[in-house]
Amino acid sequence: MSDIVWLDGQFLPRQDARISVDDRGFIFGDGIYEVTRCVDGRLFEGPRHLVRMRAGLAGLRIDQASLPDDAALLALHHELLARNDLTSGQATVYLQITRGSAPRAHQFPAASVPPTLYLSASRITPADALRTTGARAILLPDLRWARCDLKTVNLLGAVMAKQRAVESGAQEAVLHRDGVVTEGSITNVFGVLDGVVRTHPVGTRILRGVTRDVTLELLHAMGQPVEERALLLEELPQLSELFYTSTTQDAMPIVRLDDRTIGDGTPGPVARRLGEAFARALHDAKRLR
Ligand code: PDD
Repeated sequence: MSDIVWLDGQFLPRQDARISVDDRGFIFGDGIYEVTRCVDGRLFEGPRHLVRMRAGLAGLRIDQASLPDDAALLALHHELLARNDLTSGQATVYLQITRGSAPRAHQFPAASVPPTLYLSASRITPADALRTTGARAILLPDLRWARCDLKTVNLLGAVMAKQRAVESGAQEAVLHRDGVVTEGSITNVFGVLDGVVRTHPVGTRILRGVTRDVTLELLHAMGQPVEERALLLEELPQLSELFYTSTTQDAMPIVRLDDRTIGDGTPGPVARRLGEAFARALHDAKRLR
């Protein structure tokens, strides 16, 4: 099976791809990334990922002049999928852009240093089996920095939280800060309280997930009352449902949070309907590029 990646202007076998030890992604975690879901060789909500990518680059003041434009980037994704025999079935494309390679110094390098651009593609198995039983999660303090809206490759907050979850036999960590649920270690979190779906509003404390936006659209289309208002920790015992969303997981019901059973311990009606809506959305031509 071929495993072809794109690095700095060329396709090459993964085992031949090399970045410099001076790359600022390696030294400082100085870069951004995107993970895009692909269905039959097409990108699910591709343009939304590109918008977020460019906002992240602007937020970190990484110069975009030498990077491909949106059309060229979409074409690069498509070509990468084709070269990896991923034009049918489900896959993800990982994209990373760092501030480039220069001798170690915290301030930005000379303007002549181009960003590093890397893309790879992998086949995925949708998490449908877990979706039918529901996932387990643990509650942890959100120890991340104050710009969680930027999808940077500095992921230690996520790495430490996810590891704790896995060591506890859970699939995800639900994070809280100042008495409210922010998001998951690598997902956005939604709860159902008194029949209303609630999720943390957009801002610097969460990543604005592409799947979060799609979820809000699907919930509205279902006629489901939704409020972008953070869940309070003290409200958690009253939740009838809890679920998380991400590019690889779609909407995933949580049936146990620490030692607490959510609802009756099985995926609730909102999450189930959302799961069905997602299955359709993933094949909706209007969402595929
Ligand atoms: N994680 N919140 C955080 C902190 C995330 O890292 C992610 C995505 C999301 C969901 O975003 P989206 O719906 O656009 O995937 C929310 C990716 C998938 C990852 O780190 O692999």
